[in-house]
Amino acid sequence: MNAQSLVSAETAAEAPRAIPVRLTVNGRAEEVLATPRTQLAEILRDKLDLTATHLACEQGVCGACTVMVDGRPQRACLTFAAECDGATVETLEGWEGDALMDRLRAAFARNHALQCGFCTPGMLATARDLAARLETADETRIRHELSGNLCRCTGYVGIVAAITEVIAERDAAGIAPVAPPPLPEPAPPAGFAPFEPVAAPQPEAAIPQGETRTEDGWTIVRRSFVLDHPADAVWAAFRDLATVARCLPGAELGSTDGDRFAGHVAVRFGPITARFEGEGLFAADDAERRGTVTGQGKDRGGQSSVAGELGFAVAEGASPGTSEVAAELRFRIEGRLGQFNRPELVSGLVDHLLAEFAANCSALLSGGPMRESRGISVWALARAAIAGLFRRR
Ligand code: FES
Ligand code: FES
Repeated sequence: MNAQSLVSAETAAEAPRAIPVRLTVNGRAEEVLATPRTQLAEILRDKLDLTATHLACEQGVCGACTVMVDGRPQRACLTFAAECDGATVETLEGWEGDALMDRLRAAFARNHALQCGFCTPGMLATARDLAARLETADETRIRHELSGNLCRCTGYVGIVAAITEVIAERDAAGIAPVAPPPLPEPAPPAGFAPFEPVAAPQPEAAIPQGETRTEDGWTIVRRSFVLDHPADAVWAAFRDLATVARCLPGAELGSTDGDRFAGHVAVRFGPITARFEGEGLFAADDAERRGTVTGQGKDRGGQSSVAGELGFAVAEGASPGTSEVAAELRFRIEGRLGQFNRPELVSGLVDHLLAEFAANCSALLSGGPMRESRGISVWALARAAIAGLFRRR
């Protein structure tokens, strides 16, 4: 262990489930003991004394704990240390004398980009990633990519100005932009193991159209929307699962086998993307123009799971050449993203998804271009939920 330091006072008796985790932190090889639920932030702060990594929300929202893991910004509060075995971690302490970080520190001071300074370590970690990676200093892009770091003091103007200045200086200083490391290949779609869908409960009483209700941890939503296309044409599109997946923001169908399918849905949380891998069953009744999709899945870290059932029916619309689509969705989210089960947020989610889905269906049926989707954005949903709250009041 000469070149490495074993940093832990825990004994096997005190922490029976702790396992050794090997990390390269700021260029130093470290070996620490971590239980399966120990956060990377806890290891950095409490075991390695790297206290520039701040903890505030501990829910992945504020970005104060941002560090680089294998060349990508990551929330140290949501990252299990055990997941990082063999990884390279960079924290603010490791950028002492770094050409970009020195410029950023000076630019932050010049532009009054900090006041209390609590957000600053995470902000600088993200800022350095942007200053190293962005080809040009595009303010909209900087603001977008910085949206996962919250600052309660400054109003962001100085922070954006500082990053902009450093990107502009960088080229003159001969520091070449760095491409981010490639993402790991997505795991191949899981084979079709025996699939037992979780039975969604029937609501105790009929749910009125447009309402959202929670029963036994399941959220049940009913919505309808009108499409300017005849019911037969709409049904022909809906009974094809590949078409439905194309119209659904963030969804991608992996493989199908008869009425079974595997695929994923991407959800964006600021700069973080969660990818739910799942499988399910698809059933369609042509005579009634009714369909059901039942599915369940997990995100890649296995920290959240979702199970649900979507029933839909296509009927002739009130005006000739139109159709009305009625949908009932029942679902349950467990784990880290379970906080998004709240009815006001779910209503925003469903309305946002349906608006995008309906627009994509219309475009598809008219032969026009579909919107490019970058997945379901939780920020967009939160904004929709807040707007809905104000409307209701
Ligand atoms: S403490 Fe990690 S995102 Fe807030
Ligand atoms: S400087 Fe105080 S939170 Fe950002």
